[in-house]
Amino acid sequence: MRVLGISGSLRAGSYNSLILNSLPQLAPEGMKIENYDGLSSLPPYNEDLDTSTPPDEVARLRAAVQSADGLVWVIPEFNHSVPGVVKNAIDWLSHPISRAVLRGATSAVIVATRGRGGFRGMADLARILRDLGGFVVPAPEVCVQFVDTRISTTEAGDIRYADPMTEGLIKVLLASLARAADAGLGEHAGRAWLDTLHYLQGQGGAR
Ligand SMILES: Cc1cc2nc3c(=O)[nH]c(=O)nc-3n(C[C@H](O)[C@H](O)[C@H](O)COP(=O)(O)O)c2cc1C
Repeated sequence: MRVLGISGSLRAGSYNSLILNSLPQLAPEGMKIENYDGLSSLPPYNEDLDTSTPPDEVARLRAAVQSADGLVWVIPEFNHSVPGVVKNAIDWLSHPISRAVLRGATSAVIVATRGRGGFRGMADLARILRDLGGFVVPAPEVCVQFVDTRISTTEAGDIRYADPMTEGLIKVLLASLARAADAGLGEHAGRAWLDTLHYLQGQGGAR
């Protein structure tokens, strides 16, 4: 099973990227996680550029999402919602509507913050991914508050969790993601979305 991992922070010392990098050690057997590293190279969404030959980085991201069996998003909460760079990537992945690569995707969401927030950013991301015809693993909700007290890197470069609960919940989440992807729950959600679109188009009521 191939999973694409996306960190929603561009910061060099990002805790979200640190969690993303720890996922292979917490993943169930048979799950391979590849990290997407091009978020900062994506241009701001522009429908004029969204042609049959989109910008290279957009094509690269779309191909990576399309070929993955599942997605894991590890994002900070910014201003009680999804960081702009993440929303920008989602906009590229949602258009054109007939070929939206996020439709049918199976996702797991982790949010990490140095503060006491996170749940609103998590809810917003999950809602957007579902609204686009994807399946989002419903539990556990892994919202890592005060993340700087829960994870660190040793001098040898190993990633360590000070908090066994966070580590344990991430393991459960990744196992759930594997089962959801195996069961084709993303395709099921995408099919429901597409059937709805076709019905509305038949009624002359969809864009
Ligand atoms: C523009 C901005 C907005 C933020 N808004 C929130 C917020 O709404 N809720 C929250 O818990 N933390 C918020 N934070 C704090 C981030 O969650 C914190 O800096 C986090 O460590 C960033 O993730 P990173 O370590 O992966 O870069 C905000 C930070 C920035 C820079």
